[in-house]
Amino acid sequence: MASLVALLAVALVAQLASWQQAAVAYDPSPLQDFCVADKNSPVRVNGFPCKDPMAVTPDDFFNPAMIIGKRRDTNNKVGSNVTNVNVESFPGLNTLGISLARIDYAPLGVNPPHIHPRATELLTVLEGTLYLGFVTSNPNRLFSKVVKKGDVFVFPKAMIHFQMNLDHEKPAAALSSLSSQNPGVITIASAVFGSKPPISDDVLAKAFQVEKKLIDWLQSQFWDTNY
Ligand SMILES: *[C@@H]1O[C@H](CO)[C@@H](O)[C@H](O)[C@H]1NC(C)=O
Repeated sequence: MASLVALLAVALVAQLASWQQAAVAYDPSPLQDFCVADKNSPVRVNGFPCKDPMAVTPDDFFNPAMIIGKRRDTNNKVGSNVTNVNVESFPGLNTLGISLARIDYAPLGVNPPHIHPRATELLTVLEGTLYLGFVTSNPNRLFSKVVKKGDVFVFPKAMIHFQMNLDHEKPAAALSSLSSQNPGVITIASAVFGSKPPISDDVLAKAFQVEKKLIDWLQSQFWDTNY
């Protein structure tokens, strides 16, 4: 009996340990105070290697207001402009699991459906009124809402999401926090119709249940990104 209890205890501990491991199977947490990205290092690792800590300065942890605090030019096809403050533009964020983006919208401007493969996004409306939402994994449920200045909405990691400025005359703006220093972005339309080299139109015609002519037309469009 005692040995059975011991066996169960061992099994329970093993199960707990594996659960705990599952919970930490994620962007690894930092093993030092900071790891400012050394963008010039030839070393290839998962992320960026660290700059020599003795060479780190206060400016490595600072982002001048000019990068995120100003309205951007939204004069492009979709009428939006995303300004990212991630490890690319801000090496001090390396390993810290956080980043920001400012999104500017022209009147009726759209931030087209896209995915961040590595981050959940928490969006705060700075100005204006947005229609926004995300679609879940199959079967695809849409969660959408109209939000206004000061409202906060969360897009769970890796879900397809979008925003649109509902005002016909005034611009809008939002500030998003993302749970990765390098969230990544896959814009659905440009990934599907604008990849290089292109996906075979046989595949896309059947997948979208339309004529190849329409796919060829879509593939001939210029799929610009808004960042
Ligand atoms: C975003 O705005 C900046 C500054 O206003 C501009 O230089 C850039 O070309 C714009 N990007 C897009 C994709 O419109």
